[in-house]
Amino acid sequence: MTKSSEDSPSRRTFMTVVIGLISAVIGVAVAIPILGEILSPLFKKRDIVWAELGKIDDLKKIEPLTPKFVPVYFRVKEGWTINTLPRQVVVVKDITGKLYFFSNQCTHLGCPLHWIAARQKFLCPCHGGMFNVLGKVVGGPPPRPLYQWVHKVNSGKVLIQNKFIDNPKDRGI
Ligand code: FES
Repeated sequence: MTKSSEDSPSRRTFMTVVIGLISAVIGVAVAIPILGEILSPLFKKRDIVWAELGKIDDLKKIEPLTPKFVPVYFRVKEGWTINTLPRQVVVVKDITGKLYFFSNQCTHLGCPLHWIAARQKFLCPCHGGMFNVLGKVVGGPPPRPLYQWVHKVNSGKVLIQNKFIDNPKDRGI
């Protein structure tokens, strides 16, 4: 008695390999979107959010050309959690009464700045960068003036966005 071709080991092996390959392809096709959904928060840019800084009437009362460091707290989604990120806003009023909302980060490598009242300058402790009260570079390696936070006034309150006005590529600070 001869074996039929349907029962031959090579045909059975071939069918097993084909079924295995089809199963693997289906498995990968199902797994990729699921994994993408699970991992995507890790690769997303930080949310753009608003945080309250204070009442505009109070901020307008600050002394002209005397910076006031005010903390803000951004509530942002990072990965699967919501975190509170504290940041500093340096509020400056010029002699016409206009308010500026600067970042306290040096524009060289990001060190936090100190206001030196006796010299009327922001000083960077890292490499000696200096800025005048309106954020202009007056010494050291910083390549550009101080960044300014995106802001708006809503119902008498100043709101700050976690983004700089003049550096739109820096999203989600
Ligand atoms: S980080 Fe401020 S001068 Fe380098």
